[in-house]
Amino acid sequence: MPEPLLQLTNVTRSFGGIRALNDVSCDIPKGRVVGIIGPNGAGKTTIFNVITGAYQASAGDVYFEGQQITSLLPYQIARTGIARTFQNIRLFAGMTVWEHLLVAQPHTDATWRRLLPTRWADPAAREKAEKALVTFGLENVRDRIAQSLPYGIQRKVEMARALTAGPKLLLLDEPVAGMNHDEAHELRLLLIELCKDGLTILLIEHDMTFVMNLCHYLYVLDFGQMIAKGDPASVRTNPAVLDAYLGGED
Ligand SMILES: Nc1ncnc2c1ncn2[C@@H]1O[C@H](COP(=O)(O)OP(=O)(O)OP(=O)(O)O)[C@@H](O)[C@H]1O
Ligand SMILES: [Mg+2]
Repeated sequence: MPEPLLQLTNVTRSFGGIRALNDVSCDIPKGRVVGIIGPNGAGKTTIFNVITGAYQASAGDVYFEGQQITSLLPYQIARTGIARTFQNIRLFAGMTVWEHLLVAQPHTDATWRRLLPTRWADPAAREKAEKALVTFGLENVRDRIAQSLPYGIQRKVEMARALTAGPKLLLLDEPVAGMNHDEAHELRLLLIELCKDGLTILLIEHDMTFVMNLCHYLYVLDFGQMIAKGDPASVRTNPAVLDAYLGGED
């Protein structure tokens, strides 16, 4: 096994009486694509929020490259090399695709307006933006307002923006939601390439074909508990997992 890049140890996060995460532990090895699956409300997005510092863990710890990052602020965690996308796409109103790629991380409107003019002239930022543009095949929509584009392309803009931060770990929350079959296939190949180039990817996804064909390893959450883990083949036939999903359809 490659060394773990990210580790969660006994993480619990409560919201009032609800334990969105209950004693969750997992290891994300370097250079792998790891998936988190589970029914709606299982706690998947909450894991991302705890990792990125958007929410504090109520108990337990998060380690990145062996360093405890549990109590760091979101911007400090981003600086360690963790970038994310959002389940509900968060793009900036009125900004073109190209402008999104010059702003490496999400900021408030006031902040990016101050940042943009300097980054505009910064050759390193432009080079990173250009690379992300080409990687995600967004050259043709470079000067379009990002929010005016089809949903699948907006998702690509979000991923490209996350990549311009140069992360070691990329967290993707439902990356193929809103994508058609061809787009999802293309994205799968692209993520495999990024992973070969050294990126570690942790993704949440409901599209089982996508997950099973892409991930080296899976964790399964249900009602805040990690109920199963393993390679896709073993998880697919795990009785607890089948129960969780069938139970959800009742
Ligand atoms: N900020 C919050 N305040 C209160 N409850 C929350 C908050 N965030 C999440 N929860 C609750 O925590 C539980 C897990 O939510 P979470 O969004 O992590 O689920 P999920 O697995 O991502 O679901 P989905 O597949 O629908 O996106 C849910 O019961 C949700 O209502
Ligand atoms: Mg979610």
